[in-house]
Amino acid sequence: MPSWRAAPPALSPGVAAGEGCRASRRGILSRQSLSPDGPTEELVLPARLVVLVSGTGTNLQALLDACADPAYGADVVAVGADRDDIEGLARAQRAGLPTFVVRVPDHAQRDDWDAALTEAVAANQPDLVVSAGFMKIVGKRFLERFTMVNTHPALLPAFAGAHAVRDALDYGAKVTGCTVHLVDTGVDTGPVIAQAPVEVRPDDDEASLHTRIKDVERALLVDVVGRMSRGGWQVSGRKVHLK
Ligand code: GRF
Repeated sequence: MPSWRAAPPALSPGVAAGEGCRASRRGILSRQSLSPDGPTEELVLPARLVVLVSGTGTNLQALLDACADPAYGADVVAVGADRDDIEGLARAQRAGLPTFVVRVPDHAQRDDWDAALTEAVAANQPDLVVSAGFMKIVGKRFLERFTMVNTHPALLPAFAGAHAVRDALDYGAKVTGCTVHLVDTGVDTGPVIAQAPVEVRPDDDEASLHTRIKDVERALLVDVVGRMSRGGWQVSGRKVHLK
């Protein structure tokens, strides 16, 4: 059973930083134990994942497939979205998972939406929230409550934002790729956890390039989320170390 040092206070919303961080059990499932180098908190597996989606959900599907193996160390306990009638929600429903939808237009203020999303996610007591093609920026309140991982279809800090694949093509980049990172209050600015390159071919259009990026992206996301769930992680400044 892996163990982590207790997390220090978060230094910025959404990104706990310092010498030892861990997937948060929010005091619900963690238990204290002693080791030669001091008190630790033991991880109780499987880690609980809430996955947020806005589209087809192939990254969600990759996580669902991985979670079918108990050795993976995580379970998707709920799937949330910012819109109805998307394939990502249908995938969750076919898997028998609870789903929720929190739409921005249903709220008077953006902050009200953020509060509603925070409560909907919190109801599922996640250890980790995964943004898997979730096309909304969450607020400070959300990030103070949860650790969130995002997958982005470019090699950050290049081509942040909602049109990363098109932007890389338009720029004439010869290599792009994908990034899995911790989410902070900026747009695709959180500390990088892992990246993988993808070659841009001369005959690529946005669809063909995105398809090849997503093939790599799914594997990277599954690897990172599994490692975080099983072993925890450390953040030092902008450096993220998976145990
Ligand atoms: C991924 O490329 C993700 O990085 C981007 O949107 C895509 C989502 O794909 N933000 P899917 O919905 O998981 O198939």
